[in-house]
Amino acid sequence: VRHQRKNAVDPLTDLLSSPSVRIQNPSAVADKVKALVSGGIDRLQVISDFDYTISKFYDGNGNRCLTTHMVFIEGTKEIDEALAGKLKALNDAYLPIEFDAQMTIEEKVPHMELWWRSSHRLITEAKFSRTTLRSFVKVSNILLRDGCDGLLVLLEKHKVPLILFSAGIGDIIEIFLEQRLGFVPANLHIISNMILFDQNDCAVNFSDPLIHTFNKNSSVVGQERAFFHDIRNRPNVLLLGDSLGDLHMDVGVENEGAVFKIGFLNFNVDALLPKYLDGYDIVLIQDQSMNVPLKLLRAIL
Ligand code: TMP
Repeated sequence: VRHQRKNAVDPLTDLLSSPSVRIQNPSAVADKVKALVSGGIDRLQVISDFDYTISKFYDGNGNRCLTTHMVFIEGTKEIDEALAGKLKALNDAYLPIEFDAQMTIEEKVPHMELWWRSSHRLITEAKFSRTTLRSFVKVSNILLRDGCDGLLVLLEKHKVPLILFSAGIGDIIEIFLEQRLGFVPANLHIISNMILFDQNDCAVNFSDPLIHTFNKNSSVVGQERAFFHDIRNRPNVLLLGDSLGDLHMDVGVENEGAVFKIGFLNFNVDALLPKYLDGYDIVLIQDQSMNVPLKLLRAIL
């Protein structure tokens, strides 16, 4: 049955039929799709960014959705206007640098470190409890991409390791998934900035090493070696990201085989597309769904 279904619709043609798809090197894409499909689901692991990759960039009503850090801006608006204002000012100053099409990554890194450290200091100074975080997430405008719940359920059902490698805040990701999916998938492994709580359940610090957009590389996956060793029999990788900083999230993978990279290009398309096409196998232009990754996954099943 598996064989017949694969012959019925050519997975590559199916993938490329989506209007949002852009590709620079079709033959490399064809080879990788073939390798993933012939490897099968038991040889696969998925490594994904969270903010604006698992989650949407726009909410469908013309509003920009929130990142896991922005939950604190939204959440504190009513209860601590000064803190909300400071966090928002940081976002306004640094977000344009993160996505500047002219600056090199090396030039951006010091700015990112300053942004993350300033933001984390403000968050921990407020000493929020986990209960408060849950209430912030509940009202926050973070949305799963259309079809993402289906993707997460499929991956869990087939026991495919899902590594969320996020420069956002891991605790917010967990709370969000718990609230929106109703469960935290058993196959989930989060590599992110985790909040450290004291004995009174107050947020007092963030885990080391600090992960920002442009250091998702060997400097932060050192302590993940045992995890990647455990799943070394899964050499094929589906990598999902929305930033050029996500391109090397597979750095910790042991015994690496075919790596298929899908990039969501959410905005500033004309300026960023050439760089995204250089790095990602497939670029999805302003696509708020998980349809293309889902199609690929179904072809692998
Ligand atoms: P990531 O999507 O590469 O994992 O990065 C997390 C995003 O979080 C990144 O796009 C910048 C954003 N961010 C905020 O929105 N506010 C903040 O205070 C910080 C530090 C990051």
